[in-house]
Amino acid sequence: METTGLNSKGKNNNPRKRKFRILLLEDVEADADLVEIELKNAHISFTSKRVQTKEEFTGAVQTFSPDAILADYHLPSFTALEALQIMKNIRSEIPFLLVTGSQSEEIAVECIKQGADDYILKERLARLPSALLSAIEKKQTAHEKEKAIQELKSSQEQLRALSAHLQSIREEERTRIAREIHDELGQSLTALKMDLLWLQGKILEEQKNIEPIDETIRTMTHVIDSTIQTVRRIATELRPGVLDDLGLVAAIEWQSQEFQHRTNILCRFTSTARDIELDRERATAVFRILQETLTNVVRHARAARVSIRLEVERNILILEIKDDGRGADTEKIESKRSLGLLGMKERAALLGGSVEIVSAAHAGTTVVVKIPVPPAAQEHRIND
Ligand SMILES: Nc1ncnc2c1ncn2[C@@H]1O[C@H](COP(=O)(O)OP(=O)(O)OP(=O)(O)O)[C@@H](O)[C@H]1O
Ligand SMILES: [Mg+2]
Repeated sequence: METTGLNSKGKNNNPRKRKFRILLLEDVEADADLVEIELKNAHISFTSKRVQTKEEFTGAVQTFSPDAILADYHLPSFTALEALQIMKNIRSEIPFLLVTGSQSEEIAVECIKQGADDYILKERLARLPSALLSAIEKKQTAHEKEKAIQELKSSQEQLRALSAHLQSIREEERTRIAREIHDELGQSLTALKMDLLWLQGKILEEQKNIEPIDETIRTMTHVIDSTIQTVRRIATELRPGVLDDLGLVAAIEWQSQEFQHRTNILCRFTSTARDIELDRERATAVFRILQETLTNVVRHARAARVSIRLEVERNILILEIKDDGRGADTEKIESKRSLGLLGMKERAALLGGSVEIVSAAHAGTTVVVKIPVPPAAQEHRIND
């Protein structure tokens, strides 16, 4: 495959075709000339700047913006090790190569340890061009990899924030609709019913031919009664008032009774806590995860019993939901397409917690939710 050497922004990334800015840290001018000749002979295109002191070096790193630094080890007032230290503090992504007359292995090892990319002896300068290009390429690849990792991380964070935002909007909307249905519709229906009952009484007082009227009013009252029930059910399904009024423990208690009643699956709830003082966000998340899990039990488990256990242990809220159904294999549980389960996990992760699902064919399914809770989220034990 042929590559053009151009990246997505049109910048030439092929080291051999670029014009480099090379900073030479060298006190002997003749040595710097030799380095330049070697690079020119290798057809490397560059501009260079030579510095000798610490101040010049620091300034040039900032203003000259080099693509690479070639440094002698010993300078009259400065060493390459000090230069490396400065680089660490400012712009460590610039390749740094030692070009030195010293043959000390210790110095070489120390410099590499401190972040130098290569070590070239002045008497073997022929190696310099290839060492320089490979150091530049390596740093560039590392930089691009780091950039890609950062971009991925930030897009993951964005997705997570978006998901949290959507969850909270959804919950707010549900709460608002539930309240409106319950308060507005419920109250109007109750008022209607009271008026009807009053009318019925009035008509009965008159003692005239009231049979048909009385019958109609009776039917209307039944319709209103069942509409009131429906309105309450819809409002509760949207967001159970008990969660806001009485807290998580009461809400789970209510949900498990309601579940048993609706599905005929035995549902047992135990909790060491009478109540847990929990913020709305955490209480909602735990409750919604429970509902999602119970929905899965109805849809997939063919279970006869479900047991729910809730406790707080060392500032971690633990909710365990266990069914005795037919279970599922790991592949299904861990599939990227299991969006219900993924949603539960994501919901817990947003609060720094986790959801673990243990399931096997014919061995039931256990879902364990763990959510860290602030120390203030006191557990009021049953026998407090
Ligand atoms: N309690 C359970 N018993 C048996 N199988 C289960 C149980 N819970 C989940 N599963 C299996 O795991 C799969 C993934 O569950 P998940 O909740 O992610 O998806 P779903 O319920 O099929 O669809 P939805 O996205 O509407 O929730 C299910 O299709 C089912 O096969
Ligand atoms: Mg599901």
